[in-house]
Amino acid sequence: MTGRYAALVREDRVHGSLYTDPRIFVEEMDRIFRRGWVFLGHESEIAAPGDWVVRPIGLESVILVRDREGRIQVLANRCAHRGNRLCWKERGHDSRFQCIYHGWTFGLDGSLRAVSHKAGFDRDRADMPLDRAGQVGSHRGFIFANMSGDAGPLADHLGVGGRDLIERLCDLSPTGNIHFGAGWIGHRIESNWKMWPESDSDGYHLDFVHASMLRAVPDNYYDETVIGGESKNVSRAIDHGGGVSELDLRPSYRRELAWLGTTRDKIASYCAALEARHGKERADRLLWDGPPHGFIFPNLFLGEGNVARVDPVDVGTVLHVHTALQLEGVDQVLNRRLVRQSEAGLGPASFIVPDDAIIAERMQIGFQGLQPPLNGGDNGPGWIDLSRGRARESRADDGTRVGHVSDETTNRAFWRHYRHVMESRA
Ligand code: FES
Ligand SMILES: [Fe+2]
Repeated sequence: MTGRYAALVREDRVHGSLYTDPRIFVEEMDRIFRRGWVFLGHESEIAAPGDWVVRPIGLESVILVRDREGRIQVLANRCAHRGNRLCWKERGHDSRFQCIYHGWTFGLDGSLRAVSHKAGFDRDRADMPLDRAGQVGSHRGFIFANMSGDAGPLADHLGVGGRDLIERLCDLSPTGNIHFGAGWIGHRIESNWKMWPESDSDGYHLDFVHASMLRAVPDNYYDETVIGGESKNVSRAIDHGGGVSELDLRPSYRRELAWLGTTRDKIASYCAALEARHGKERADRLLWDGPPHGFIFPNLFLGEGNVARVDPVDVGTVLHVHTALQLEGVDQVLNRRLVRQSEAGLGPASFIVPDDAIIAERMQIGFQGLQPPLNGGDNGPGWIDLSRGRARESRADDGTRVGHVSDETTNRAFWRHYRHVMESRA
């Protein structure tokens, strides 16, 4: 590989200008967020025909809506007449979308239904639907889309690793379904978006950035992950390929339900329901393992009891938004516990993301003023080291790379796929 991104993204380091160069941001919005699969939301958010939510695909606003036939539609949030934004609220329920500029109305499938004072138009209405995503797909209720339509099958994008992460999360529900009924909340952070795939899957910083959390919540289950030193720790950092990475914390857990901070007797009906669905052996395994901690390129973070999106705003601004895992078919007490846990970890006054946000903003400041190295060379300032654990990670026959939980195996997973996408869609 000899292109611009191959010069900036090496196996063991990347150049800091990747976080600050506005020209690179523009190319990312096209090659990654327009021509590739992007995570948008969940089918439970648009359960009934007419339900809609507004979401970003890169910098474009789209309406994610269930049409009359029950199909999922992803429509540009932009009137087909002169481009006025159609929906200003975040969600709603309607039988059609009417533009307030000149009153055109569109069906839930994006077709143009009515034109006011139509005698002045000689174009066929059928030729003027809302723009729509070229491909829409879902996996276990997780909805993905891309505008270009040439991103290939969703199953290939997710890969075995990405599908497995989603399935492990959904299998925690006694019905096999989770829902996003807790709503979204998030942080607007003055950092480049790529610091979040990095930070969300970084197992090296917990003992430092999150030291205050570890002190304040002494029996939290990260203890086993981060305390006890490098040599004792058995958790793993995994590169599943295709930009899918995982911090596999399961080997460190010392008891079942550590991830939920409770014991079997307090949630007996949930445990019984899980066993009824999966059988005892698998149910016991799920109760021990809990939800996964993984990142699916480019913007979906499965953060144990949270699902988060990384939505770029501009080269130096990102929205990191999340919703609490909610299980279908369980007592509301359990779902409320999951919401409280999510608030404590990722919410505005929480222990985890606010600390990560400070670091991301300081990194962004640190990268200010960097220029890409001249002539694709690797000399000069501004390189970020990502070599940790390269020499000791192992590689399976299927290409999966496995390192120590604190190794930068996960970061290299993101950047290797980033380089591939940015070069192959040039
Ligand atoms: S811009 Fe929407 S009807 Fe004219
Ligand atoms: Fe963190």
